Amino acid sequence: MPANESSNRPVILTGDRPTGPLHLGHYVGSLRNRVTLQATHSQYVLIADAQALTDNAADPDRIRRNVLEVALDYLAVGIDPSLSTICVQSALPALAELTLLYLNFVTVARLERNPTIKDEIQARGFGRDIPAGFLCYPAAQAADITAFKATIIPVGEDQAPIIEQTNELVRRLNRQTGRDLLPVAEALIPAIGRLPSVDGKAKMSKSQGNAVPLSADDVEIAAAVQRMYTDPDHLRASDPGRVEGNVVFTYLDAFDPDLQAVADLKAQYRQGGLGDVALKHRLTGILQALLAPIRERRAELARDPDFVRDVLRTGTANGRALTEATKHEVMEGLGLFRL
Ligand code: TRP
Repeated sequence: MPANESSNRPVILTGDRPTGPLHLGHYVGSLRNRVTLQATHSQYVLIADAQALTDNAADPDRIRRNVLEVALDYLAVGIDPSLSTICVQSALPALAELTLLYLNFVTVARLERNPTIKDEIQARGFGRDIPAGFLCYPAAQAADITAFKATIIPVGEDQAPIIEQTNELVRRLNRQTGRDLLPVAEALIPAIGRLPSVDGKAKMSKSQGNAVPLSADDVEIAAAVQRMYTDPDHLRASDPGRVEGNVVFTYLDAFDPDLQAVADLKAQYRQGGLGDVALKHRLTGILQALLAPIRERRAELARDPDFVRDVLRTGTANGRALTEATKHEVMEGLGLFRL
């Protein structure tokens, strides 16, 4: 029985859309945290394949293929199925059923005003052709969160408005039913912020090829660091260079365990006398050392897909019991007809 079942630890729900393998941005932004938090919290990790469909309806195949890839990433970084419960979203019908109920308690205008949705509609270039499922995904995510009765939601800053809208729904349902039906949730936003892409331009993207996947080998890591944006005016090693906006330093801040060494390197770089080659060499070594054991473990697990499937089956079965129970409480609370 997973730790989740028997404890009254605070409940965490986290998740990812399985649209591609996870990368270093996920590692610093959330995966690293999940590995720590699973020891002290009741943690559920959702592979959000149904949500991934909201902006990938033309390519469901890609989502199906990536469910196992994401599961491999989870296990490889140290998410431990005896401490965390990993669930596949589309295999939990209660989430879809709660979504349908919740949609009656939000307005289209409110969904359209959600800053995350607004930004993502822009970024995806939907124009007026917004898939209805996409517009409504905040209600679906509210279903995810409340179905697990999660109170702590580790997400990137960009997802904060989704949690806010979840809480609006929770308050509305609690008010209307006159009971403490569902708990409000808190977004846990990492202090480190978002890791920039290798080119320093866009955010890291699973699909844009500017991210370092967790499965990258030594050669790929070295090549990615080689491409990293530094200070374009720092032409000679002896020149003073800029640390701000320099992607190599941002990565050192995120991954180099020796904070003092990084501070010294920054001072030296600003002053002049530290070349990009030496700097990139250090980062390459750090990332190679970080990813080598993850990659090896991933390759080992990939040879045993039955084990990975089993982890998902067991986790999803545990998630099903909990989410079905919540669904019945909500239906009861709303006073729906019972046969
Ligand atoms: N929206 C999240 C993302 O884009 C994925 C997600 C789906 C999620 N359901 C969730 C995250 C519930 C936290 C809790 O990454």
